[in-house]
Amino acid sequence: MIRLAERMSLISESITLKVSAKAAALKRAGVDVVGFGAGEPDFDTPAFIKEAAKLALDRGQTKYTPTPCIPELKAAIAQKFNRENGLPYKPEQISTGAGGKHCLYMAFMAVVNPGDEVLIPSPYWVSYPEQARLAGASVKVIRGQESQGFRITPEQLERAITPRSRVLIINSPSNPAGHAYTPEQLKELADVVVRHPDLIVFSDEIYEKLVYDGLKFVSFATLHPQLLQQTLTFNCHSKSFAMTGWRVGYVGGPQHVIDAINKLQSQMTSHITSFTQMAAATALTDPRGAESIEQMRQQFEKRGRHMWQRLTALPKVTCVRPQGAFYCFPNIGAYVGKSAGGVKITDAVTFASALLEQAHVAVVPGNDSGSDRHVRLSFATSMEQIDKGIDRIAAWLTTLA
Ligand SMILES: Cc1ncc(COP(=O)(O)O)c(C=O)c1O
Repeated sequence: MIRLAERMSLISESITLKVSAKAAALKRAGVDVVGFGAGEPDFDTPAFIKEAAKLALDRGQTKYTPTPCIPELKAAIAQKFNRENGLPYKPEQISTGAGGKHCLYMAFMAVVNPGDEVLIPSPYWVSYPEQARLAGASVKVIRGQESQGFRITPEQLERAITPRSRVLIINSPSNPAGHAYTPEQLKELADVVVRHPDLIVFSDEIYEKLVYDGLKFVSFATLHPQLLQQTLTFNCHSKSFAMTGWRVGYVGGPQHVIDAINKLQSQMTSHITSFTQMAAATALTDPRGAESIEQMRQQFEKRGRHMWQRLTALPKVTCVRPQGAFYCFPNIGAYVGKSAGGVKITDAVTFASALLEQAHVAVVPGNDSGSDRHVRLSFATSMEQIDKGIDRIAAWLTTLA
């Protein structure tokens, strides 16, 4: 039998996968499942971006490109960072990867040593701890309180930092709770970070365009001159341009770190798919890009508000109002300890699993995101589906005793 590498024991298999697999099986069997599991926009990639990819194919842009990408894409990303975020990155301070996920993974591999500590505010996106552990780090969760809108306080951050702390993750707006920091709140965290010059911030800004209620987005590295040297800024085309399947992500940061990431990339995948590169540059430079994002944002804002209102009207359910991304993260803790159709609800996984089996609504348990009392519902779906799904949840909750 082939023996697996020891590092495979550092990461765990996602418990949420079981629920998604069950939802998929039910759908295949013809059951009308309302799916709130999607982590991607339900809109298609804008036509002008697809056209740019088709043109690249027709022009024969099908060969290897330089690592990490063609100069046009690096330049378009650097311009985007300068123009939209006030980040003065030069093209050589940019790297690209197969989605935001791959960029984050390469960054962990580039800066983290075994024994280092990665600070992750909760609730968090499922891959941060796993990637940090793969790089040999230990994970320290800073617990975001629901009463504080899941935002960690500067005092909490200060208390969490030790001489071993190497990376702090900032993800605003966030997956899974849609919570976000105001520029002032982020500045308070930045003031703590600059007192610890060895700490690196991974600012995951992939939901920057999807903000609601007039929230102003700011890039973390702009909050103090020193932060440009202490921050890696991550972004991708997945959510803003509805391009999840294209696998285009990028990162900007200090030159020597980007050089290290490029070195890894050169031995890993060389570069992202050649004919997506020109299309990815077009998405950033063509004015139709911003228009399509705004149309999608407005839809998400309406749906998100509606979903949140309906969820908070459910008995004993509380929910932080999402200010960004496309997720609600309601607290279902009041139902833990009850039984549904003979099944005991012990946590978010058993809640999600019973809800799926008995009411045919798919939600994502929060266990892999740092909470076993919350479930994630994506509002990247139609208003009709939102109403249909929450009607089912409301009826099902009345059966719990
Ligand atoms: C917070 C966060 N970061 C990174 C990613 C990865 O994005 P990509 O699909 O571009 O790899 C996701 C995807 O869901 C996410 O929610």
